[in-house]
Amino acid sequence: MAITDFVSETACAKINLALHVTGRRDDGYHELDSLVAFADVGDVLNIAPTGETSLEINGPFAPKLTNVAGNIVLDAVEAMQQAWPLQFAAVAISLTKNLPVASGIGGGSADAAAVLRGMQQLFGPVEDRGMLADIALKLGADVPVCHLQQACRMSGIGQELSALGEGPSFAAVLVNPGIAISTPDVFAALGLKAGASAMSGMPKLPATAVRKDWISWLADCRNDLQTPAISLVPEIQTVLAAIGSAPGSLLHRMSGSGATCFGLFEDQQSAQSAAKELQALNNNWWVQPAVIA
Ligand code: C5P
Repeated sequence: MAITDFVSETACAKINLALHVTGRRDDGYHELDSLVAFADVGDVLNIAPTGETSLEINGPFAPKLTNVAGNIVLDAVEAMQQAWPLQFAAVAISLTKNLPVASGIGGGSADAAAVLRGMQQLFGPVEDRGMLADIALKLGADVPVCHLQQACRMSGIGQELSALGEGPSFAAVLVNPGIAISTPDVFAALGLKAGASAMSGMPKLPATAVRKDWISWLADCRNDLQTPAISLVPEIQTVLAAIGSAPGSLLHRMSGSGATCFGLFEDQQSAQSAAKELQALNNNWWVQPAVIA
């Protein structure tokens, strides 16, 4: 087995461009129909083989992660070692936390998925892809899509993925109001009973990569978690209004269970100037220009 010294993985921000909740299973999990894409910004994980597994967290949002021993990154390492004890040795991980935590853009799920990719890069790929998919889903409903890290339609509770192939690319701005929000609380605020089937799924996807076709398609889509999230964190509404009134803004919406919102813009330049203006509007917001694809 070829063992590299060290690998670096970027855990890109996951953006739900659309998120329709189509029902609720008897076990309480919600059925989704979502268009997921990834931004060119993210956390960075450096992973190296070592004698004893360790995790060190640095970067702008590291102070928000106080329980290092309980971090999902370590759960991911343990899950890989338990499933394939002869293949995966201990690793030392350095995590640079660039993305706000509990913010609807993957966060811990993207970090855990980066561990699954990084460990395979270090110690070789696993053969049993089905078992790997089970491990990813068990770590979290967003981990499978973050593991793929590619634009796709996501359904089931997050385990059914269909890659878009040639999808569109958008100049964007991501904005988080600096308030962490609990995913279970947002789903609960939706108020769907177990076993219920709810709202409609997404309309038929455009067959082209032409951006304006996707923008008008997205305009017909929703994020069903947006209203419940706003009921818990009203600042989300302020963020959305601010993005929507920026020059060049084509579409704005919340991602995942919030509170991060995204705006899609005509071009990079309008996204950059919108980011500058939005940051000037509120010092406490996390504002990040990005490309989403
Ligand atoms: O799987 P994960 O730990 O990320 O999910 C966090 C919580 O979000 C779950 O405990 C559940 O309350 C809710 N959830 C859901 N349906 C999904 C994904 C998450 O109800 N498809």
